Amino acid sequence: MRSHSINELYGAQVFDEPAIALAPTPYAKWLTCRVAMEEYGHHVRFRELGEQIGVPAAQLVPGEKKPLSIFAFPLTSWEEFCVIKLLADLAEILQVEDLLHCAFHPLRNLARMTMPEERFHAQFGKDFCIELCRTQEGRAKVQDAIDRYFPLLPPFFGASGSANNATFRRLGIKQRRNEEMRADFIERARALVEDELKLRLPKLDEAA
Ligand SMILES: [Fe+2]
Ligand SMILES: [Fe+2]
Repeated sequence: MRSHSINELYGAQVFDEPAIALAPTPYAKWLTCRVAMEEYGHHVRFRELGEQIGVPAAQLVPGEKKPLSIFAFPLTSWEEFCVIKLLADLAEILQVEDLLHCAFHPLRNLARMTMPEERFHAQFGKDFCIELCRTQEGRAKVQDAIDRYFPLLPPFFGASGSANNATFRRLGIKQRRNEEMRADFIERARALVEDELKLRLPKLDEAA
């Protein structure tokens, strides 16, 4: 709950809200506003549930806890935003999918509510990336953003062999191991980037 509440707020502040100004057309701005509204909404809902089960309010907003490294890079272009929606929201989908069968029903219900919106964000990223890839210049910019952002995403799934993850699985809160989710994410990202966009997914260090 803490990590969802914090990361949804970071994402909305660092990427989604600034992207409204970068969106190139009124139509793209309209859809980007919807994405920003929904990401702020995810923060609000996860935060509410966190507060209801007694998590101290200060632990549900960015503060002492170090943010994911992806949030350290301020957004500079529309292409970057489209790639973030394509790939970072795919990572969000995997996280939310894992909670769809969560034994803690308030969290399961929240995941079920959030899922269609995350699917919309990833589809938004895919549709706009496809559009950008119609020109040579656009393809080059999308590839460059993939090269810079994709390597930051696999750590999002946490350490392999994590003791916390084992506890969550024992309690039925989570279904899959961190390393299984990471491998699934990399394969789904590869299919999107290589099979659908006909671009290249950068190779990761073996350690990642
Ligand atoms: Fe979200
Ligand atoms: Fe999202």
